[in-house]
Amino acid sequence: MYNIRVEMSQNLKEKPKDESKLTFGDYFTDHMFVMNYDEGKGWNDPRVVPYGPISLEPSAMVFHYAQEVFEGLKAYKAADGRILLFRPDENFKRLNASNERLCIPPIDEELALEGLKELIKIEKGWVPSACDTSLYIRPFIIATDPHLGVRPGKHYLFIIILSPVGPYYPEGLNPVKIYVETKYVRAVKGGTGHIKTGGNYAASLKSQAEAKGLNYTQVLWLDGVERKYIEEVGTMNVFFKIGEEIVTPALEGSILPGITRKSAIELMRSWGLKVNERRISIDELAEAYDKGELKEAFGTGTAAVISPIGHLNWNGKIMDINGGQIGELSHKLYETLTGIQCGRLPDTFGWTVEVK
Ligand code: COI
Repeated sequence: MYNIRVEMSQNLKEKPKDESKLTFGDYFTDHMFVMNYDEGKGWNDPRVVPYGPISLEPSAMVFHYAQEVFEGLKAYKAADGRILLFRPDENFKRLNASNERLCIPPIDEELALEGLKELIKIEKGWVPSACDTSLYIRPFIIATDPHLGVRPGKHYLFIIILSPVGPYYPEGLNPVKIYVETKYVRAVKGGTGHIKTGGNYAASLKSQAEAKGLNYTQVLWLDGVERKYIEEVGTMNVFFKIGEEIVTPALEGSILPGITRKSAIELMRSWGLKVNERRISIDELAEAYDKGELKEAFGTGTAAVISPIGHLNWNGKIMDINGGQIGELSHKLYETLTGIQCGRLPDTFGWTVEVK
């Protein structure tokens, strides 16, 4: 048992009325979880307080050198009213892996989970109930020292905010159009592509903006050295069904080890499907397409869940996948994953954690 103090907001907000109109990341709940780190003292003062602006000095290190890590997970409301988290232990474990890479002191994963549960118990009225909606959870850590030398911080804030959300892409479950990026790179091995830090996303904006200008939803990143091997989309990991093989890029140090990725692999293997984590080049993909063997493509991510890819553009070579329709496998994965997440299907893997 941890001692988490609670300060209730005296100014409750109006909740979004129509769940079917929920967008991604635009609404925030009434409270947040906060904890400080101070050198010599460690992580201290875990608390739930009213959601609101935080005060930092303009010299706070995060503004200058981007010492920041974050996570994304979701809480769902089951039909019987239970509130379920999906594999939260995996997120806090990954947060610590990100911390390690950016010289941020590790958090106590159990305390973080307890803090999150405490927060969600207070905010349970904010968890939407339709199965394609959820309460998105954003834990993050920033270096707060007022200091301009380049060194790891000695003071940090760990904050968890909550946001009721609908689908990440306006397309919902309709296949998205993806542009294969050949000019910019996202990450190289030894860098930070395998952790969740804001800088990775800042560096992707230019490419994303250019793709948007061409009417594409996102870009597909290739490896930063040979510009040949498929990596990830940036907001999702990717999978391809080629003949009877399902392929996803192996985790070799420059792509994010997605929790939805891991869950999709475990699910598909439990269905007896052949899933290989290996290198796959864009040439191999195009060749499979030309031979008529590229059956499906989809992305996986916490925010995106399962997002079918209906169209790829690689240097002008257009690959229209499955006639631009959602494939059978993507659909089954979406139904099964969201079914487990929102308690509609039995959780045979023990992935969900009830908030009570
Ligand atoms: C997520 O899927 O939770 C992510 O963090 C991706 C994106 C919204 C940044």
